[in-house]
Amino acid sequence: MTQTIKVFVPIDAAALAVGADETALAITQEASRRGASVQIVRNGSRGLLWLEPMVEIQTSKGRVAYGPVQAEDVAGLFEAGWLEGGKHPLCHGLTQEIPYLAKQQRLTFARVGITDPLSLSDYQSLGGFEGLKKALSLAPEAIVEEVTQSGLRGRGGAAFPTGIKWKTVLGTPAEQKYIVCNADEGDSGTFSDRMLMEGDPYVLIEGMTIAGLAVGANYGYIYVRSEYPQAIAVLNSAIENARSVGWLGHDIGGSGRAFDLEVRVGAGAYICGEETSLLESLEGKRGQVRAKPPLPAIAGLFGKPTVINNVISLASVPIILAKGAAFYRDYGMGRSKGTLPFQLAGNIKHGGLVEMAFGLTLRELLYDFGGGSATGKPLRAVQVGGPLGAYLPESQWDVPLDYEAYIGISAMLGHGGLVAFDDSVDMAKMAQYAMEFCAVESCGKCTPCRIGSVRGVEVLEKIRNGQQRDQQVELLHDLCDTMLGGSLCALGGMTPYPVLSALEHFPEDFGLEKTPQPAAHA
Ligand SMILES: Cc1cc2nc3c(=O)[nH]c(=O)nc-3n(C[C@H](O)[C@H](O)[C@H](O)COP(=O)(O)O)c2cc1C
Ligand code: SF4
Repeated sequence: MTQTIKVFVPIDAAALAVGADETALAITQEASRRGASVQIVRNGSRGLLWLEPMVEIQTSKGRVAYGPVQAEDVAGLFEAGWLEGGKHPLCHGLTQEIPYLAKQQRLTFARVGITDPLSLSDYQSLGGFEGLKKALSLAPEAIVEEVTQSGLRGRGGAAFPTGIKWKTVLGTPAEQKYIVCNADEGDSGTFSDRMLMEGDPYVLIEGMTIAGLAVGANYGYIYVRSEYPQAIAVLNSAIENARSVGWLGHDIGGSGRAFDLEVRVGAGAYICGEETSLLESLEGKRGQVRAKPPLPAIAGLFGKPTVINNVISLASVPIILAKGAAFYRDYGMGRSKGTLPFQLAGNIKHGGLVEMAFGLTLRELLYDFGGGSATGKPLRAVQVGGPLGAYLPESQWDVPLDYEAYIGISAMLGHGGLVAFDDSVDMAKMAQYAMEFCAVESCGKCTPCRIGSVRGVEVLEKIRNGQQRDQQVELLHDLCDTMLGGSLCALGGMTPYPVLSALEHFPEDFGLEKTPQPAAHA
């Protein structure tokens, strides 16, 4: 009898976008033509995006990776004996030994790319639901304490301590409380939320359930951006599966405790990722920022105490409960504990996901993992932390990736996305783009952002055209001061970061001398 060989073809949106379905079909057809017995498993992505579709063959030595495998490569791969791990120009050897993966510290992404995302048995065989089982044995206060002790801070951008947020909700009495997962993932160059939801949806469900037990909430919502149809489909199936075996519903894990959740599709605006706009949108209203206080933890969704956390924050909770706060806290540096899934995007040779403990440097990410620019030209600037993040010049690439160290250089880690640019970039154009982005995405509630961003575009246009350059630069600093200090939320409040960092580090692109001394900030 011929042995059935497992062949893994990712079903992650990044792999689908470059032909993974066609590759899977070609493998099935070619195997049948040759009388070979294969079982195609649709796994998540390993996060080596330049190799997608990356196909893995289960061999006696482990999984062997081939990529990028297009449908037309399949016959040749069979010819080369890939089902036995045979040599081929597209072969990268054992997946776990590929340096990009071998060097990583995958805690939150431990299962992503390894398992069939919807298989409950895969999930449980690799530690799934261990955190929830632990949580079910603890009092709410003890769960909150464990999360607090782990040092976990929000991965959505603001880096607020998760345990403290949960403590506030736990301590606010109410008949109804909610857990809301922020899966709007609007930052440029970011995709870790999407990869996690598509590749390991049960870990998010588990994290939200633990949050519910911790604060006394019995219902949750996952607010997913509409641009993520694959994630929405996977989550909906995973929720149904979890409910059918009792990991969601009236009696989770036979404990007599209740928790259930549903997916809501986002309204398609960057500002809907801001927590209070998101809550407005969830309530069926236009996504517009609410003034704080009250904090969502006190009066959030439908006026009820609400935990609102990013996907990665919630998905990091199960391992913290399963392995203990001390285990998680051992990773990282200073007050930045645990790991962050960095996302390498833009002009970079090896774009993808790199989960590492805080403390490594941008240079290591750009070169040791990213392999330098995709164009082969020298890298010049990197925007870290999404469209509101600063542009960092090479002189700052050795600063450790740590929340406080980044604040020290007027930058932020945000959601861990980085977008690389080579030396063909025009940084004055990028500064103007940052103001344009703010003008287009502004919710309109406060003047510094609504009007300021429009004026900012005009001022930058004048600087770029050399019209009264010195006065306009002074005006730009004044405007940025007003936006920084007077905006209601971080969209208007942080747009000055990319603008001023571009001006400070790349003045020559604005037609200015290398070290400008603007009058307003002399
Ligand atoms: C303009 C703007 C957009 C934001 N977009 C997102 C987003 O897409 N996803 C996210 O998790 N947080 C986003 N945030 C941060 C949220 O407001 C909030 O801090 C986060 O959901 C809290 O979860 P965390 O503590 O787990 O990070 C955004 C904030 C602002 C000001
Ligand atoms: S800063 Fe911009 S997005 Fe934020 S509340 Fe004000 S107008 Fe709305």
